[in-house]
Amino acid sequence: MKAEKEQQNTTPLLDAITALIETKPAYFRIPGHRLDKGISKRWTDKVGSEIFAYDVTETPFTDDLHSPEGAILQAEKLYADLYQVDKSFLLVNGTTCGNEAMILSAAHEGEKIMVARNAHKSAMMGLVLSGATPVYCMPEIIDEFGIQGEITKESVEACFLKNPDCKALFLVSPSYYGVTSKLSELAEVCHEHGALLLVDEAHGGHMYFHEALPQGAMEAGADMCVQSMHKVTGALTQSSVLHVNTKRTDVEQVGKNLQLVQSTSPNYLLMTSLDCARYELAGHGKEMVQQALDLCAYARKELAKIEGFCCMDESTFEGLDLTRLVISAKKIGLSGFELEEILFQKYAVNMELADEENVLAVVTYANTKEDIDRLLFACKEIARTQKEKENAKPLVRQYPPFPQIPEQVLTPRQAYFAEFEEVSWEEAKGRVSAEMIAPYPPGIPVVYAGERITEEIWNYLTCFKKDNRHIHGSKDGKLETVRVIKHV
Ligand SMILES: Cc1ncc(COP(=O)(O)O)c(C=O)c1O
Repeated sequence: MKAEKEQQNTTPLLDAITALIETKPAYFRIPGHRLDKGISKRWTDKVGSEIFAYDVTETPFTDDLHSPEGAILQAEKLYADLYQVDKSFLLVNGTTCGNEAMILSAAHEGEKIMVARNAHKSAMMGLVLSGATPVYCMPEIIDEFGIQGEITKESVEACFLKNPDCKALFLVSPSYYGVTSKLSELAEVCHEHGALLLVDEAHGGHMYFHEALPQGAMEAGADMCVQSMHKVTGALTQSSVLHVNTKRTDVEQVGKNLQLVQSTSPNYLLMTSLDCARYELAGHGKEMVQQALDLCAYARKELAKIEGFCCMDESTFEGLDLTRLVISAKKIGLSGFELEEILFQKYAVNMELADEENVLAVVTYANTKEDIDRLLFACKEIARTQKEKENAKPLVRQYPPFPQIPEQVLTPRQAYFAEFEEVSWEEAKGRVSAEMIAPYPPGIPVVYAGERITEEIWNYLTCFKKDNRHIHGSKDGKLETVRVIKHV
């Protein structure tokens, strides 16, 4: 059912909770803080108390997330209408639970699913839950910034050629760095093979509102996608949405799977924040995105004037979400980690993340020119200070060629439950890893749990270890030791 245009101008869940509060109830339900009276004064002194009245539970006014018929169902229908999809689910456990539910809905024990090798760890969790066997397609690498690029149609086709029985393709687009894949091409390939296209669109809830941004996943023909509305719109942390087009998807099964991965006491503040985030996007999504785009255009222009700094733009990669600023100062000898540390410690400029080469700013409609000016001021100062240092030399990185994806001895589920032991890195050659190992850059896992540490992989990773590079995923982060599966 499509909602009427003027309905987008309403907030059914917010209004339902307000109506409940206005009955001034004698409240004997959970939560025990009784709308707002029972919250610690230490906290309410800092933040006020009114918001806590909206932390309620299932009542005849407020509906039930796991079996919605009233205000929550209406809020979900408004999402479906706004994003032009058949069904939307509100999520209170982030895109993490949405990714898990998508994978659970697509492939089971004994079935194959194609997964982009750079998928978020929630995809692995979904595979542990579902028991499906992943086969991997590799993202490109954007050399200039040492980051992960798109998943190409060619790599997906090659993977289908070897694995025509894959039930779905799961990938992230846009990535943390704003890199998108050509999703309409990928949708076509998947559907030709009778497979679903599942998109982790955690970073892309805003893509649908401005023509300067690449196409959103559902517009491009994806069967399901999940968006962290807390990452780029005004929703509270943990608030996400799962969208479904029902042509190829059993929407009831998706709902059932969501029950498996979400609390039976979903938080109403989170759900209300989703209701209100949708209201804002429907009212002025385009202006919101424009604000972020304008700030980023200004930042890029000014950063280009700072000696030694550079910022990724469309000349590096075409399908970029331009509201992400990937900034590097490697030409003046600073790693991303060092740059992030100085920005944070000296200038109170908080970046979203750093890697070996870059820092990343997530710029939203709620940022201001003052924020950007502080970032620019700090970068100018840092450039000046670095210039004064005699030993500031450009960082030069040499990547050994990325090794072959190794033999998968156990599925992620089998590996998760298998007994493991910790051995020295020297002893790990030829063993089956019990952990993921992903050196930076570009942070693409070289080994997943259940995969064999082949000689090629061991040699490749040893280069990173010798270089003292950051190793993501492994328990000690340095590869002094590694966890391997016993008895295989
Ligand atoms: C690509 C990607 N997918 C999924 C997630 C998980 O999202 P959430 O924090 O909403 O659970 C993240 C979190 O950073 C992410 O970057």
